[in-house]
Amino acid sequence: MTCAGIGMIAAFGLSTSIASAQQSVEVLHWWTAGGEAKALQVLKKDLEDQGVSWNDMPVAGGGGEQAMTVLRARVTSGNAPTAVQMLGFDIKDWAGEGVLGNLDDLASKEGWEEVVPDALKEFSKYDGHWIAAPVNVHSTNWVWANKAIFDELGLKQPTNWDELIAALDKIKDAGYTAVAHGGQAWQDATIFDAVVMATGGPEFYQASMIDTDPDALGSDTMKTVFDRMAQLRTYVDDNFSGRDWNLATAMVINKEAGVQFMGDWAKGEFLNAGKVPDTDFMCFRFPGTQDAVTFNSDQFVMFQVGEDRQDAQMKLASAVMSPSFQSAFNVVKGSVPARTDVPNDDFDACGKKGMAELAAANEKGTLFGSMAHGHSVPAGVKNAMYDVITAHFNGEYDSAAAVEELVNAVESAQ
Ligand code: BGC
Repeated sequence: MTCAGIGMIAAFGLSTSIASAQQSVEVLHWWTAGGEAKALQVLKKDLEDQGVSWNDMPVAGGGGEQAMTVLRARVTSGNAPTAVQMLGFDIKDWAGEGVLGNLDDLASKEGWEEVVPDALKEFSKYDGHWIAAPVNVHSTNWVWANKAIFDELGLKQPTNWDELIAALDKIKDAGYTAVAHGGQAWQDATIFDAVVMATGGPEFYQASMIDTDPDALGSDTMKTVFDRMAQLRTYVDDNFSGRDWNLATAMVINKEAGVQFMGDWAKGEFLNAGKVPDTDFMCFRFPGTQDAVTFNSDQFVMFQVGEDRQDAQMKLASAVMSPSFQSAFNVVKGSVPARTDVPNDDFDACGKKGMAELAAANEKGTLFGSMAHGHSVPAGVKNAMYDVITAHFNGEYDSAAAVEELVNAVESAQ
C-alpha cells in the first residue's frame, strides 16, 4: 500500500470516529409559532455549545394533540425520540406503559427534589422515579389586551363578568373585533377553564374539572358557564373557525381586536413582535379569577433510548434544569420557571406578576391544573369535555343540553 493510501485510510478512520462521537438529540414538540420557536432556540444553542446537535421534530398544534398522535406512531414502530414535550396526564399515561427513561441519578446529583414544586413533581416523577424535566409553568387564565384600544375607549381592566361584558360591548361598538379567538377545540377549552373558575370559584373548579363530580358537572352553575360561553361567542369575528392561536394573538397585536383569552405563551408572540407590556399590551387575569391560577407545565419527557444516546439525553435534561436556562427560556416563552430558586430579575412586568401570582396561589391553595392543557384529568376525559364544549360553542347544543352531554360524556370516558 502506498503512503498516500495509508494516509487516506487514517484520515477516513479519523473522520468516522469524529462522526460517531458527534452526539445528537431528537426532540418532538409543538413549538412552531414565532415566539415559541425563538424560545426553543435558547435550548438548541445551549446544547450545540456542548457539542450536541439538535434534530428537530416539530408537530404544530397547541395543546399537543397532533404531537401526541405522531408520538404514538413513532413509539409503536420502535423508534422513540430522545425527548418529547408533554403535558400532565399524558406523561402519566406514557410512564404507565414502561417506555420512559430514568433521570434519578442526574436529579439527585443536581438536587431537583428541593427546587421543583410538588404540583410539577406530580408529573415529573412516576412511582418515585424522575422521568421528565419540567421546562416551565404556564398559566391559562389570562387576558391579553391591546392597550391603544383600551386607552382610546377609556376602558379599565375589568374585574368581574359584568365589567368584562361592558368592555367587550364598547370594543365591538367601536368597530373592532372584541375577542380574538381561534375556533379549535383546545382554544375553546382554554376559555372554558377560565369561565368555570370565574363563575363557580376555586371549589367549583376543583369539583367539576378535577374531581369530575357529576353533581358539579350537571349543576346550574355549569349551565351559567355554558350561557357565558355562548355570550362570549357573540364577540368573535366570522372567520374564527380553525384559526391558529398565534394568528388570533396577531389580531390583538395589530389593533384589529381588543382582547384574547389565552395562556401566557401569547406573551411570547407580543415580545417577538417587539411589543412591550403596559406600553403596547396589557396582561391581566380573566375577570373573576384574580385570586386563582390554572396552570400547565411543559415537560421534556425522556424515552428509553440505546446506550449510545443516553449521554446526550442527560445533557439535554441537565440543560433544561439549569437555573440560567430556566430564566433565559421563560423570559422569551412567556412562562415562568419550573424551579422555585430562579430570580425574577430578567422578567418583564407580566412575568414578574405571573411569578408572584403563582407563588401566592400555591400558598393559598388556589393553584389548579388546567383541564384544557392536560393537567386536571386524563386525555380520554379531557377529549370528552373538549367535544361538548366545542359543539356547544358552535351552536350544536343549547346550554341545558350541553350540561347533560357533559355529564354523560365524562361518565362514559371514565
Ligand atoms: C403549551 C405551550 C404552547 C401552547 C401553544 C400549550 O399546551 O403548554 O407551551 O406554547 O400550547 O402551542
